[in-house]
Order: sequence, then structure tokens, then C-alpha cells
Amino acid sequence: GNVQNTSMLHYWSYFAKGVGYTLLITLLAILIGIPIGTLFALMRLAKNKVVHLIAVSYIEFVRGTPLMIQIMFVYFGIGLLVDIPALVAGVIAVSLNSAAYVAEIIRGGIDSIPVGQTEAARSLGLSQRQTMQSVIFPQALKNIWPALGNEFISLIKESSIVSIIGVTDLIYQLKVVQTATYKGVQPIVVAMFLYFIMTFSLSKLLNHYERKMQHDN
Ligand code: ARG
Repeated sequence: GNVQNTSMLHYWSYFAKGVGYTLLITLLAILIGIPIGTLFALMRLAKNKVVHLIAVSYIEFVRGTPLMIQIMFVYFGIGLLVDIPALVAGVIAVSLNSAAYVAEIIRGGIDSIPVGQTEAARSLGLSQRQTMQSVIFPQALKNIWPALGNEFISLIKESSIVSIIGVTDLIYQLKVVQTATYKGVQPIVVAMFLYFIMTFSLSKLLNHYERKMQHDN
């Protein structure tokens, strides 16, 4: 073949598209996963036993099964009823998966606040709800933000598994470039490097905001 067509630079748009999809899925999963995860965290902390049990079951089941099989289940399961684009199935599955991890992050953050804080607030006359809203949650957020940042970084890497249902993310694109160039290793190295750029920049960005938040307090 000719030299130009086997150069990785020639395929930059494939990699760019892959990075775009990877970032899109990750971003949507975080945006959808945080509110649903918060809901499950509050449900798990609820006094109502049924509500608590629903949340525990969801969280444990989702964390106890591979994301890969969840993605297949959503894609082929919903596919039985309606035609669903792979991207949509991927976003739904990754979001619902992340929600379970986010729920535990939030519960952990709330649990980390000593009971003395609740007792003090309650003895000052605050209701259960007011205590949660103005005493516990603001303090819990200090532990929650950094952990949510880590979840964000994890999702950049973990979302790569959506390639098994044909979502054109970075892993999918690297396989396309392998096929087009007959080069096995070079596309892997490029994709690996691109993943690292994404996680490393996000991590630096999050550290920056974390430091800023600490100074503001
Ligand atoms: N690789 C693990 C699995 O397949 C974790 C997936 C999702 N992780 C996450 N932080 N949302 O089960």
C-alpha cells in the first residue's frame, strides 16, 4: 500500500471522532448519573424499609455485575421492544451504572459526618430535614466532590466497553484504523495516548478546582 494511507496522522479524524464520542458518553453519564445516584443515596438512607431495600438492591446488583453485560442487556433488552441506537443504549447503561457508584459516594460522604453534628443541630431545634440541608450536606460535599471527580475520570476509561455494541467511541475507531492500515500496534498506542490525555487533563482540572474550593472555605 502507499505510505500515506498507513500513517496514523492520515486517520486523525477517526481518532477525533472516537474521542468525541467517548467524551460525549462520559459527560452525559455524569450529568444523568449524579441526580439518579443522589436519589438512590437518599433512598438508601431513608427510614422506610421498602424504599431502603429498593435502593440497596439496585446499588448492590449494579455494582455486582459487569458493566459489559449491563450494556448488552440494555441494548438487546430494549431492542426487543423498540429500535434503539447503540449510542442511546450505551449512554443509558453507563449512566445507570454510574448512578450506583455515585449513590455510594454520596452515602459515604454523608456517613463521614460525625453523629455529633446531627445531635447538635437537632438540639438547637433544627428539623431532620433542616439538619440534613444546612448542616450535614454542606460538610459532606467536601468529601463528595473529589470522589465524584474520580468517578468522572473512571467513566472516561470504563465507557470504552460500549464499543462491544458498536458505539463508535475511541476503542471502536482504533479497530477501524487497524483494519484500514493493517497495523496492529500503532492505532492502539495512539488511542492509549489519547485516553491518557483525557484522564490526565481532567484530573489536573479537577485538582485545580479542588484547591480553589479549599481556599474559599
Ligand atoms: N469495570 C467495572 C465493571 O465492569 C466498573 C464499571 C463502572 N465503574 C464506575 N465507576 N461507574 O463492573
